[in-house]
Amino acid sequence: MSRYIFFVCLAGVLAGPGIVSAQSDPGPRIGPAGAGGPLAGLSMAEKSTFTSARDSFNEIDSVGGTEPGTTGKGLGPTFNGNSCGMCHAQPDSGGSSPAANPQVALAKRYGADNTPPSFITIGGPVREARFISTNPNNPSAPLDGGVHGLYTIKGRTDAPGCTLQQTDFASQLARHNVIFRIPTPTFGLGLVENTPDAALAANLADHQAQKAALGIGGELNTSGNDGTVTRFGWKAQNKSLTIFAGEAYNVEQGVSNVQFPNERAAVSGCVFNTTPEDFEDVEQFAIFMRLSAPPTPGPSTPSTSNGSGLFTSIGCAFCHTPSLTTARSNYTEMSTVTYSPYSDFALHHMGSNLADGIVQGGAGPDEFRTAPLWGLGQRLFFLHDGRTSDLLQAIEAHSSPRFDCTISQSFQRFEAVNDLFQPSQQSFVCGSEANKVIDNFNGLSKNQKQDILNFLRSL
Ligand code: HEC
Ligand code: HEC
Repeated sequence: MSRYIFFVCLAGVLAGPGIVSAQSDPGPRIGPAGAGGPLAGLSMAEKSTFTSARDSFNEIDSVGGTEPGTTGKGLGPTFNGNSCGMCHAQPDSGGSSPAANPQVALAKRYGADNTPPSFITIGGPVREARFISTNPNNPSAPLDGGVHGLYTIKGRTDAPGCTLQQTDFASQLARHNVIFRIPTPTFGLGLVENTPDAALAANLADHQAQKAALGIGGELNTSGNDGTVTRFGWKAQNKSLTIFAGEAYNVEQGVSNVQFPNERAAVSGCVFNTTPEDFEDVEQFAIFMRLSAPPTPGPSTPSTSNGSGLFTSIGCAFCHTPSLTTARSNYTEMSTVTYSPYSDFALHHMGSNLADGIVQGGAGPDEFRTAPLWGLGQRLFFLHDGRTSDLLQAIEAHSSPRFDCTISQSFQRFEAVNDLFQPSQQSFVCGSEANKVIDNFNGLSKNQKQDILNFLRSL
């Protein structure tokens, strides 16, 4: 305790005006994108498949496919975007949120009469919104958890007669019932998809004693259908790139497809196409992501390599795993490849500071998948809700008060096959699993912290 107080005083002195400037995020790395291209070593045929799949990823959808400049159809009735590439854009197609948020102009595109909610601004990140509760006035009401589309097609030239009103986000915001998610980058995800469940489990079990001493646990999210590890999305909620693509097409753009054949928000007067609206695109999207190369890191300097060592020695790497190895693959360049995602793809309790109250599969209200840090050097917005563009703040946000506890309980009682079953589960977790590692970070010198920040911006 006394050491902590001593440190706080010291930091106060160091940060004093005009004495010594504090460590700071050097900001997005400039120079070539180093991402967005195909995996090295693809055949000519595979490369051309990749290129046409990228065109599909960037294809823009309108309601009927008739809006000038669009080639796809099926947008709406509700939507957050009109093409995959709109949200996955930085530093190149497939990436994350661009600097200027395209959702602002989208509100009124082609005659639509939506108003961007307050959390959609030109300088802020692309966002989608979920509601925590079905009734925020009653803390015991059932959870909602679903994505509520920002916009509707009402007013658009290609949606005559549709009267579906835009969701009233202001009143939900006033009741603290809205959480946000920003796009995660999709570069190199074929490698993640092709990593065996056993490799992820072994990595999580590795260094058990050291992790436990730091308060780090973790669990893999799994599919309720086949029991295998799910790994995509902020809560590792999705199984494969094809499933994610099908779901995103339906949820983000409102395009029903072979994976997700039923239209969301299909109110009468707003359904203009037969279902499914798309038969082929989903597989193209998945191919583009599967065959994309991982981001290329920037050059190493004495500072970044020192930062890399500190990143491991203070415990960041216990969650942000520096390397994993894929299974044998149909694609030779993806076969038994060791890659550097800086994630264990496992869920961790992050405490009340990051908790979003959303439950997805095995992921509870304060659990998140360790965010993969590859490509971080060129990313503009951080954390699941995009609350900061500053790496230092993203790091500090990992810690949460130790007295804020999450309790999950479930109890069932039923008879089946002529027998009585009473399964019950309880978990009680306080604070963030990262608390001690963040204490370690805060205990570093200014130069050491700067080395870690420089290392992160080299990824
Ligand atoms: C309106 C913006 C938007 C559009 C349009 C959009 N996405 Fe996303 N994407 C997101 C957000 C937000 C997330 C994080 C979602 C989550 O985890 O809940 C995401 C996550 C993903 C992921 C997970 C990657 C990972 O790190 O595990 C994949 C894959 C993906 N999107 C593919 C697509 C595809 C394919 C399309 C086009 C059909 C698409 N997205 C369209 C916003 C968008
Ligand atoms: C207990 C596991 C754990 C530890 C330890 C940990 N992290 Fe994280 N980290 C996460 C999770 C989970 C997220 C995503 C949280 C969210 O978005 O709500 C994350 C997010 C991040 C992000 C934001 C990435 C993005 O895409 O937005 C950065 C940067 C980061 N961590 C750096 C670090 C550094 C540096 C350390 C060591 C000082 C560290 N982390 C320690 C689990 C951990």
